[in-house]
Amino acid sequence: MATEVKETESAGKEIDFTACDEICEKYRDWKGATIPVLQQVQEAYGYLFSELVERIADNLNMSAHQIYGVITFYAQFYTKPRGKYVIRVCRGTACHVQGSGRISEVVCEEFGIKNGETSADLKFTLEEVSCIGACGMAPVIMINNKTYGNLKPEEARKIFRDYAELQG
Ligand code: FES
Repeated sequence: MATEVKETESAGKEIDFTACDEICEKYRDWKGATIPVLQQVQEAYGYLFSELVERIADNLNMSAHQIYGVITFYAQFYTKPRGKYVIRVCRGTACHVQGSGRISEVVCEEFGIKNGETSADLKFTLEEVSCIGACGMAPVIMINNKTYGNLKPEEARKIFRDYAELQG
C-alpha cells in the first residue's frame, strides 16, 4: 500500500501555533477566508507544513484534504521549506534564446540544486519561471525581488557567490 509522505516540521519539536490560531480567529466568520488565511500563515511560518495545514483545517472547520486542494491549486503556496534567497531564472523564449538554461546550470554547479529544489542550508531555492516581462534585458533572473538582466553566466556566478557570502 502506498504511503503518502508529507513534509513535517515537528520532528520531535514543539510547534508554536499561536500565530496560526490568531490569523484563523481573525477570519473565523468570513466566507472564502481560506486563501487569505493560507497567505498569512505561510508568511508567518515560511511554508505550509502538514501540522499547520491540519491546524488551519481544524480552525476553519474544514478537512485537511480541502485545504490541500486549495494549496495545490495555487502556485503561491508552498508545502516545502524555501531558501532565504529564491533565485528565479526566466525560461521564457527570449531568455531561453539568450542562454538562460546555462544560468540554471550555474546555480546547480554552485549550490547543487535543480529547478524546484532548495539547498540543504536553506539559503537558496531555484525556480525556473516563464516570461517575467523584461525580455529587453534577456536573459533575466530575479533574486527575491531584485532583477538582474543581460546576464552572462559568469556574471551570474559572481552574483550568486556574493549572496552566498552574505551572513544570515
Ligand atoms: S522571456 Fe525572459 S523576461 Fe521575457
